[in-house]
Amino acid sequence: MRARIILIIGGGIAAYKSLELIRLLRKRDIAVECVLTESATHFVTPLSVQGLSGAPVHTALLSLAEDSQMDHIALSRSADLLVVCPATANLLARMANGFADDLATTLLLATDKPVMIAPAMNVRMWQHPATQENLRTLRERGCHFAGPDEGEMACGEFGPGRLSEPESIVTAIEDVLFPHKPLTGRHVLITAGPTHEPIDPVRFIANHSSGKQGYAIASACARLGARVTLVSGPTALPCPDKVIRVDVTTACDMLAACHAALPADIAICAAAVGDWRLAETATQKRKKQNDAPPVLTLVENPDILATLSRSGPSRPTLVVGFAAETEKLETHAAAKKQRKGCDWLLANDVSPGNGVFGGDHNRILFLGDESTESWPSLPKAEIATTLAERIAARFSPSSR
Ligand code: CTP
Repeated sequence: MRARIILIIGGGIAAYKSLELIRLLRKRDIAVECVLTESATHFVTPLSVQGLSGAPVHTALLSLAEDSQMDHIALSRSADLLVVCPATANLLARMANGFADDLATTLLLATDKPVMIAPAMNVRMWQHPATQENLRTLRERGCHFAGPDEGEMACGEFGPGRLSEPESIVTAIEDVLFPHKPLTGRHVLITAGPTHEPIDPVRFIANHSSGKQGYAIASACARLGARVTLVSGPTALPCPDKVIRVDVTTACDMLAACHAALPADIAICAAAVGDWRLAETATQKRKKQNDAPPVLTLVENPDILATLSRSGPSRPTLVVGFAAETEKLETHAAAKKQRKGCDWLLANDVSPGNGVFGGDHNRILFLGDESTESWPSLPKAEIATTLAERIAARFSPSSR
């Protein structure tokens, strides 16, 4: 299941950084629903927050009751974690004293979920015994904290109280959401995206792969603590957090990058590798001839999955492949698994009407060690999480 947080934005000058926080959380496929205190609306607009979070924004207790299907009690328990960012001195005091005089404090009082606080305030306010007392109380009650940092503040003073950078807050959030890191110490090698096989300096042969599935798998494995090398063909996707990406263009480059990344415990070949390349790439742009179109002579590319599956002593312990098929899914997938010598294979129907290439969902037929399972249609991020968790279970000490 996709992780979900409620982000409570307090009214301070640092509130603008919560926008970046929302962006980073969504990039990691964490769903965010936001609540703004009345004073926060003077620093950031509900419209920008809604645009970035892609979810309804809540500002007042009464309007929540009127507008939505969900009351404040249900909302306070609907997420895996509540994050208060920025948490002003005033908001901390109201939390510590159990106030419930607006939507933010009511949710914080009604929730049965963990709470993370990212404080931001002037250094003197931070150091004041009243604030320190409130912090102690909240810590004793089990609240998690991200920051604050020490540094120059918007008011010109210097010291502790500055909001932590959004990246560090995300790391703290992920540590609470995903405390279990079963792939720590494992190296996962992943191929993703299409390859481009050049015809001449301006033309190439490619395919429709977006790279989304492979990138989601890289992200899921990194979240479970693995060291991840993502060997990627040309895509428009940003590199997932905590993942080492090696950019390649052709199938031959991809194979060389995979060899260079070994040893690995796990290899997952999610790339849509071009099956053929030109026997000879023209060094200058091919010109149109008057008589006939050119005949392109193709030669077969190396099969990266098959090569890794049969790489002798340097073979990763677990090799996982994909199968892109347009018909006879199960028969073709079973034959492909056998032919390529991989341990697991995730088969998907990539017929044009299915929207798999470039889309956000996929339906997988999973060919495991001994059995075959049909997974329901799922977002690619969930397929990635399911696969990463299965890998973790395969490598857990109890399953050896
Ligand atoms: N693969 C690979 N190197 C290649 C071709 C494919 O590593 N040169 C990998 C893919 O990353 C995928 C699996 O092999 O994990 C199956 O790819 P797919 O495109 O479904 O099959 P092909 O090998 O191309 O076979 P066919 O075209 O006959 O379906």
